[in-house]
Amino acid sequence: MRNGQLRIAVIKGDGIGVDVTNAALAVIAAAERRIGGLSLGYEFLHAGAACFLESGRDMAPAAEQAAAAADAIFLGAMGLPSVRHEDGTEIAPHLRLRETLQLYAGVRPVKAYPNAPRRLMDERAADIDLVILRESTEGLFYSAAVHNRSQIADDQEVRETLRITRSTTEKLHDFAFRLARRRKARGGQGRVTCVDKANVFRSMAFFRKIFDERAARFPDVERSYNYVDAQALDLIRKPWEFDVLVMENMFGDILSDLAGGLVGGMGMAACAEIGDAHGLFQPAHGSAPDIMGQDKANPLAAILSGALMLDYLAERYALEAHADAARMIETAIQTGFEAGRLRPMEFGGNQGTAELTREVIALVEESRQSRG
Ligand code: IPM
Ligand code: MG
Repeated sequence: MRNGQLRIAVIKGDGIGVDVTNAALAVIAAAERRIGGLSLGYEFLHAGAACFLESGRDMAPAAEQAAAAADAIFLGAMGLPSVRHEDGTEIAPHLRLRETLQLYAGVRPVKAYPNAPRRLMDERAADIDLVILRESTEGLFYSAAVHNRSQIADDQEVRETLRITRSTTEKLHDFAFRLARRRKARGGQGRVTCVDKANVFRSMAFFRKIFDERAARFPDVERSYNYVDAQALDLIRKPWEFDVLVMENMFGDILSDLAGGLVGGMGMAACAEIGDAHGLFQPAHGSAPDIMGQDKANPLAAILSGALMLDYLAERYALEAHADAARMIETAIQTGFEAGRLRPMEFGGNQGTAELTREVIALVEESRQSRG
């Protein structure tokens, strides 16, 4: 915070990242007009595949420092399949940010909205309201190409390392239990499920052992366990039974896409990546080059990520207005779906990015202010 102003680093990135970021910022501005006093100052940073093509760097060191100095980072999407390193991997400075800023808690809410496509026939699918908590700094992503840690032997073999550390895992599980506790206070189930592969891997048995150790500190929160393969099955069979699911990085990457599909698609998949000193907010979808520049992207995941950012700032700096703005945006989306006013093209509807954003802004403008 500088002179009472919160500094937000914004990376619009590539493809639809640009469109959905603009949408999220426009909705936050609308909430600011209703509530006042959010005092957000934006700094726009260049990073991603386009930046790499122009400069040979996926993100300038000065931009990385600026991101680290900000009170929060908002990110659209980075990377394009047409822009690759020699080893075939895509440009992914985001993975470096997760590691350098130690954004270990990847929070990916999965919630069914009325009138949004329900991919499962079972009526109870309307009650889906869970969070995938994806560890985001280690696990198998410890070995992501951007970190240059793979062991490559003469073009004959490549080995990657899956890393689980006690320090990160303790913090991750504590985060999961605190999150479940907060959700319980708001009427949630209050349960954390440890998703692992502890039947096969020592690293995973270690992950589960630390889960049990930390659970002892949260007697008011229920705990359960699921192997990741069975969890994939259960996310289709009975996703409404789950509350907070905590898991290793790669498992979380995969299951969060699956879970996004349950409630419509990736256009609904918001994400907060939180560490002890930094927070980054982004839709969990990619840059979607197949629809970029066509005004077709569903900006709701980005808009909901904006609400997660406001919530984070509210908690970090004890700011009531920011919490109100977050609720206002979430309620606008809930009400908008209930009234059939939000019809993203992603779900076969007729609203492109711009029109959908205008509708969310109208809903925010109509909403009743909760403060005096
Ligand atoms: C995500 C994305 C990223 C990841 C990509 C874009 C590097 O899929 O946020 O889930 O793999 O973590
Ligand atoms: Mg992913």
